[in-house]
Amino acid sequence: MNIVVLAAGMGKRMYSSVPKVLHPLAGKPMLAHVLDSARALNPKKLVVVYGHGGELVRERMAADDLVFVKQEKQLGTGHAVLQAVPELDDTVPTLVLYGDCPLIDQVSLERLVSTAGGHQLGVLTVELDDPTGYGRIIREDGRIVRIVEQKDGNEAELAVKEVNTGIVCAPTVPLKRWLASLTNNNAQGEYYLTDIIGRALADGIAVVSTHPDNIWEAMGVNSKPQLAELERIHQRNIAAGLLAAGVTLADPARIDVRGSLTCGRDVFIDVNCVFEGDVELGDGVTVSPNCVIRDSKIGAGAEIRGFCHLEGANVGAGSLIGPYARLRPGADLGEEVHIGNFVEVKNSRIAAQSKANHLAYVGDSSVGERVNIGAGAITCNYDGANKHRTVIEDDVFIGTNCELVAPVKVGAGATVGAGTTLTRDAPAGSLVVSRVKQTAIAGWKRPTKNKK
Ligand code: UD1
Ligand code: CA
Repeated sequence: MNIVVLAAGMGKRMYSSVPKVLHPLAGKPMLAHVLDSARALNPKKLVVVYGHGGELVRERMAADDLVFVKQEKQLGTGHAVLQAVPELDDTVPTLVLYGDCPLIDQVSLERLVSTAGGHQLGVLTVELDDPTGYGRIIREDGRIVRIVEQKDGNEAELAVKEVNTGIVCAPTVPLKRWLASLTNNNAQGEYYLTDIIGRALADGIAVVSTHPDNIWEAMGVNSKPQLAELERIHQRNIAAGLLAAGVTLADPARIDVRGSLTCGRDVFIDVNCVFEGDVELGDGVTVSPNCVIRDSKIGAGAEIRGFCHLEGANVGAGSLIGPYARLRPGADLGEEVHIGNFVEVKNSRIAAQSKANHLAYVGDSSVGERVNIGAGAITCNYDGANKHRTVIEDDVFIGTNCELVAPVKVGAGATVGAGTTLTRDAPAGSLVVSRVKQTAIAGWKRPTKNKK
């Protein structure tokens, strides 16, 4: 099929300089959600209609399989689809989607397409308790005869609760003809896509309908309150999926997944955690409150304590992270590594059973096994122009408050005394101390305050 996604609306009621369809839902532009569902249907042509001021849409969503068509003026949904006509393949039907209706599911779309078949006009409709604002589905003898917009309807028509989701599937050759014949003789002075129903009936083409499985699939976004409502619905659905798969959530209303979260067995996630990008939690992982975890992999049995921030990290099985730890991209931890409070790790491999329990920075480093990095120890990886590596071999002990000025290497089993500024390599098995010798001045009198 051809798929046309309407995305020309700026979205006045969003009160934003960003085009409406680029506003994120679960961390991803609404339009990207729609395109994901569209792509799952394997369309022959995938056309996005963007609007004046919508160049950002084109820039942000650019992909080889997309054709962008500009609608200079927003003259209505029918006019928007008309802009895509030159791109549509006549031999397959055309499905119209909305870029601001992000949660529409592939299954509902497949059902609409198969109900319509190649030769009928299919409309996806839904029953709403409050249909205000939507186009009402007007039936005679059970058959759809027209769709009446809120602003055009009379009292009886507006009382109808079955509404148009806006999603339609039509045979392409007659669709092109119908679109060309639309007029804007209505309350809004717009070319309504919905008027193709009358055209189809006049041509003797049947108009059929199906419903999505869930009402929220058909919910569109015109404002921030509606976006926030859909975000919550979407997050609640994700949480329900995690629970159904056996994950324990302290509160399904207090987790946000902006991407994909894969969990093993017996995973526990406490409140207020945010997962972004691709995150994998192994069997038995626990995540304590208020953690942000992005594009990271956490090994079996690892414990992420409260208030941690992880990005691009790989945490080995049985590790203990936090509270208040920060793992930055390239943090690659072996098994049973301990990273404690106010420790930052970046672009560093830390091998099994090593520990940095308090207030340390490990950057651009290779740390061996069973290494102890004391409180306040810092790898000085940046000389103001370039980054350099620090190598710490197995069984090293780094005392508190040391500075390891890279490039530098600490040999296996070496001990670096507290307060040392290491500027040359420490030989394996040695004790290295660069501390100023302690002196004591007996009977020291402290200065006293001058009298005024
Ligand atoms: C439309 C339908 C209505 C349906 C509702 C569902 C028509 C005439 N009405 O009404 O029956 O119940 O959607 O949400 O079709 N767009 C363009 N170019 C335009 C106009 C709109 O690209 O010139 C895009 C918008 O960006 C949006 C979609 O089409 O993604 C719907 O437009 P909108 O103005 O919101 O239509 P509604 O009045 O809500
Ligand atoms: Ca709308």
